[in-house]
Amino acid sequence: MGRCSVATRAVNAEQAEEWNGAWGRDFIEQRERHERMLGRLWARLLAAAAIQDGEYVLGIGCGCGATTILAARASGSGHVLGADFSRIQVAEARRLGAAAGVASARFEIADAQVHPFGAGVFDVVISSFGVMYFDDLAAAFGNLRIALRRGGRLAFSCWRSRADNPAFTTGFAAAAAVLGLREMPGPGAAFSLASTDRTGALLTGAGFGDIEFVKADEPMLIGCDVDEVLEYQRTSPTTTEVLTGLSPAQAGDLTRLVRDRLAAYASPDGVTMPGAAWLVTAQAV
Ligand SMILES: C[S@@+](CC[C@H](N)C(=O)[O-])C[C@H]1O[C@@H](n2cnc3c(N)ncnc32)[C@H](O)[C@@H]1O
Repeated sequence: MGRCSVATRAVNAEQAEEWNGAWGRDFIEQRERHERMLGRLWARLLAAAAIQDGEYVLGIGCGCGATTILAARASGSGHVLGADFSRIQVAEARRLGAAAGVASARFEIADAQVHPFGAGVFDVVISSFGVMYFDDLAAAFGNLRIALRRGGRLAFSCWRSRADNPAFTTGFAAAAAVLGLREMPGPGAAFSLASTDRTGALLTGAGFGDIEFVKADEPMLIGCDVDEVLEYQRTSPTTTEVLTGLSPAQAGDLTRLVRDRLAAYASPDGVTMPGAAWLVTAQAV
């Protein structure tokens, strides 16, 4: 793919450390679960991106590469570059891309906020929940705008509010706050684009027009039953931090509360929670 050059610079250091550490490992270990949770939202993103045969596509925050591989299939004779600053996930994406036999997909370690992707190289930039974590959102979207040709398309998914997404409020951290064991977690970077006013202004400022926000509400299958999901949550990086320093009695109370809260989403088909995302599309002007 001669139209792309690759290099990295260190910004977003805190996020890069997390995604190269516990969070990145969790995403690799739980990849199939994430596919079951997010598969419908991935399909909605690909439909919104409307990738045509022969197009050059840049996938931002590609993680283990699922949407990049889908984009490579959609672009046929085109080329797709999946970019992520998580070295461990890029390694996994390369492995999965090769296994899927998509020769037109490449994966590179790159910080999307600053990486020189090349001016006007791409027809489409996509991202599945990978554009919310930048230290400087304006600079990052400006960089993605540079990578697009004039008239090129941006399509990404991001979470709506935390309150709309029980997957983020039924875990150990929120339950610990209910029990008075710690403060309620703040909204966090995952929700940095939840406000359409703010995101619209950011995109306009970065050189995008025709900005549209479509609500994507899709059920997310979290796991096969309450015990399985409880175990998944109990061993997650966030919960490990929450449980540190609690007495056995406190940990027991907390676990019971999380179990009760999860039970509200359980059915014979598994534990399913509503997922509330924005599908955002825009054009490079
Ligand atoms: C929530 S995960 C989403 C992964 C994948 N796209 C998916 O839908 O499953 C966010 C991804 O964005 C990546 N990411 C966050 N900030 C980034 C940045 N500044 N540059 C490149 N990748 C970034 C993380 O490493 C992580 O893989």
